[in-house]
Amino acid sequence: MGPRSLVLFEKAKRVIPGGVNSPVRAGKAVGITPPFIFKAKGCFIWDMDGNQYIDYVGSWGPMILGHAHPQVVKAIEEAMSKGTSYGAPTEREVELAETIVDMVPSVEMVRMVNSGTEATMSAIRLARGYTGREKIIKCEGCYHGHADSLLVSAGSGVATLGIPGSPGVPKDLAAHTISVPYNDLESVSMAFERYGTQIAAMIVEPIPGNMGVILPKEGYLQGLRRITSENGALLIFDEVISGFRVARGGAQELYGITPDLTCLGKIIGGGLPVGAYGGKREIMEHMAPEGEIYQAGTLSGNPLAMAAGLATLKILKDQTIYEGLESHANTLFSGIKEAAEKAGIPITVNRVGSMGSIFFTQGPVADFASAKRANEEQFKKYFRSMLDQGIYLAPSAYEAMFLSTAHDKKIIEKTVESAHRAFTSL
Ligand SMILES: Cc1ncc(COP(=O)(O)O)c(C=O)c1O
Repeated sequence: MGPRSLVLFEKAKRVIPGGVNSPVRAGKAVGITPPFIFKAKGCFIWDMDGNQYIDYVGSWGPMILGHAHPQVVKAIEEAMSKGTSYGAPTEREVELAETIVDMVPSVEMVRMVNSGTEATMSAIRLARGYTGREKIIKCEGCYHGHADSLLVSAGSGVATLGIPGSPGVPKDLAAHTISVPYNDLESVSMAFERYGTQIAAMIVEPIPGNMGVILPKEGYLQGLRRITSENGALLIFDEVISGFRVARGGAQELYGITPDLTCLGKIIGGGLPVGAYGGKREIMEHMAPEGEIYQAGTLSGNPLAMAAGLATLKILKDQTIYEGLESHANTLFSGIKEAAEKAGIPITVNRVGSMGSIFFTQGPVADFASAKRANEEQFKKYFRSMLDQGIYLAPSAYEAMFLSTAHDKKIIEKTVESAHRAFTSL
């Protein structure tokens, strides 16, 4: 890393645990000092030492239009000039809620919060309050933010750093979380056979992106819908990553499944801190002040965040955006696959639309156990070679690569050439 990033990281470590405000960023898993970012535009980011990178992290998903998109920046500036927070209702939050209801098939009512973690945590509370039951089912390797009930067998940073659970989560609470392998309907049925009427909900990333990208097997999501309905439990889709990413209406639109509740985040904030949870009116009406289940937020519906989200979603309503992303992502991931084959490195590529992952293993990779079989040493070397060549990837074998509308053909060609050099050097 350049000298400025090195100095900043040393300073940061003195005042911030691990030097970072979110663990994976530290680059521990790949043995690097993280570049400290100075600015970003389009598909590029620049660090404090003036190095330019092609960015495939996209702030871990939100930046589907690329960085500092002019319409998003303009919307934020306009909102900012009128004050940054009121803690009172505004027209824009109604507009954003209407836009979400319009775009996400199963959502009839939606509540804005400030992060994906808040969205999933609140959806779980709602499911428990609504059903009067306490247990939840989640999948191994899925990450739903860091709320206590959801840190069991979690993906993302928990998987990257090899932490099995987390100290600080009360055992009694964790005991209410049942963890099952993804893509395995049998284990879900078994959980219901055993705990039946105690299960409030199953929460799932319909397209997991936190153990690398995994695709749902044919019939899996339909099966979850059926089993949860038969047992009077709610089905919660955590579309914090897949929402507005894989299609305008997220994975539920792509696969034609209607969950009871949906969690959103990342893209709906256009790069500002936003989350949301929504679903059937009949369930959502149980939230205070209409109903009896409590959830609140000082900065919820923040005017700047609403403006950024709204500007982003307005652009995403145009279907051709997804066609362009699909075509570029296909070129990128098939190019990477070919480059690996030429270099004699076995990899598995999993991709849906503009989110995808490569695993250093023959595959198939369909759950957390198979994702963990990938060769971490090879990933580390690949990651470092790509960084040296100016390609910024998530510093973890368990994260996705995200494309934006700003990644054009030339950028993708350059990335594939870099990947080829990286594979050859392994
Ligand atoms: C699927 C999913 N759910 C929830 C979250 C938590 O969101 P946040 O980091 O905004 O709290 C994440 C974050 O990466 C996520 O990927």
